[in-house]
Amino acid sequence: MLGSSLGLAGAATGSAKPTPAQTEGPFYPDLDNDLTFVASREKRAKGKNLYIHGIVRDTEGKPIANALVDIWQTDHQGIYDHAGDPKQKEKDQNFQSYGRYVTGEDGFYCFKTIRPRHYGDEKFQRTPHIHYKVARRGYHELTTQLYFEGEALNAKDGIYKGLSKEDQALVTVSFGPIEEAPETVQAAMKSAFKEEKGWPNEITVGEFALVMKAV
Ligand SMILES: [Fe+2]
Repeated sequence: MLGSSLGLAGAATGSAKPTPAQTEGPFYPDLDNDLTFVASREKRAKGKNLYIHGIVRDTEGKPIANALVDIWQTDHQGIYDHAGDPKQKEKDQNFQSYGRYVTGEDGFYCFKTIRPRHYGDEKFQRTPHIHYKVARRGYHELTTQLYFEGEALNAKDGIYKGLSKEDQALVTVSFGPIEEAPETVQAAMKSAFKEEKGWPNEITVGEFALVMKAV
């Protein structure tokens, strides 16, 4: 009865009108799974192109449908789309700093993006990484980060170093040329990103599996 002790609870029951529903505001100019292109702009983002794909599963290995996969990262210069980022004005305006994907029955998700750059200074240096948040009712929200195999700065990153070797392996992704990927992966990327004109220059592909714990 905390509410009534503050006099805020109100007396009426059964007479409350539902809050009117309204359309969701345009928080971002574009929020899909292709971060290399912002709707309404002509040019694509600068940087080294990447495809990332994976399956969202539970701890028993069963694919999870309707999982909301959100990612965010810096542009090719290490700049976030964030008012607190001091280099905000120099940010690549053609880079869609956020991406979103909702999994289907097979749990599959994918993104097309660019390789983020490291940022920070001697006091707080971050190796290149991509932030992930995965949400699905019935599961604990999963907040994690993807790292790049072979990146020398990983060894100097405090957050990365804080993980056990086993956990590092689970969040470190190996990227290789799309032309060398299995045909099933090539076909999935081709159809997801409508690459009818051929692959973008020097694009690499990597797999990042996501495992959620049930509540
Ligand atoms: Fe970050």
